Amino acid sequence: MKLINSISRMATLVKILRKEGKTIGFVPTMGYLHVGHMSLVKAAKKHTDVVVLSIFVNPLQFGPKEDFKKYPRDIKRDEALAGDAGVDIMFCPSVSEIYPEGYATYVNVENFTDKLCGISRPEHFKGVATVVAKLFNIVKPDVAYFGQKDVQQAIVIKKMARDLNMDIEIKAMPIIRESDGLAMSSRNIYLSEAERREALVLNRSLEKASALTVAGERDSGKIIKEMKELISQKPMVKIDYVSIVDTKDLKDISVISGEALVAIAAIVGSTRLIDNVIVKA
Ligand code: PAF
Repeated sequence: MKLINSISRMATLVKILRKEGKTIGFVPTMGYLHVGHMSLVKAAKKHTDVVVLSIFVNPLQFGPKEDFKKYPRDIKRDEALAGDAGVDIMFCPSVSEIYPEGYATYVNVENFTDKLCGISRPEHFKGVATVVAKLFNIVKPDVAYFGQKDVQQAIVIKKMARDLNMDIEIKAMPIIRESDGLAMSSRNIYLSEAERREALVLNRSLEKASALTVAGERDSGKIIKEMKELISQKPMVKIDYVSIVDTKDLKDISVISGEALVAIAAIVGSTRLIDNVIVKA
């Protein structure tokens, strides 16, 4: 596996790969890799010739009171994991190269970013879309892989790629869970044992939403109420939102017909966790 830190070296390598007719699969990450990331690498390896995984903790997508400084970083550990998973190129640019002095260009995907997580993290998706657009321009992938856990992010990136005529296929891959059901996230390491136990209620509440839908419940309000009641039994879990929305435009749905996204965000101790499930009426 090649480890590349500079944008110009990455761009040169991409030119060579393209000349050789190789397809590029891209897995953008902020590092502290886990099995969820590896599932994206696995999918990329299956469908493309060369897999590029980027590690860049993007300051632009963190709010002033968020965890940018303490976000877990361990390049050596990530290098070993990425190598074992069969990543061909690990791209780890520096903040000063991605955002040099005087940097002034941002990507804002309107309408999709002021809902769900965008309400409590108003600048977050602008930061995500901006860095992903930049990484796409550097890596020039044929296919890019995102996790369905960050479902709003995947939808925003798909919209950005469509609106900006980016010739890149965006794939959202299934959520990978720990054996007890907790959705995998680099932030799970912040949780104490007790917090981690209580955090399981998030997945349970989503399972409840699925079960209620299967049993014929169509009223989003009733499903959300039951989910909130379940979550409120865990004092360390503070709900940010529990929403049932359209999978295409993320607008609230009051009566479920067809497919709906049940999405949840909560602060567990001091860690913000998100999770979701798609239900079908
Ligand atoms: O999902 C993430 O890890 C990040 O939001 C991403 C897509 C790498 C952009 O910084």
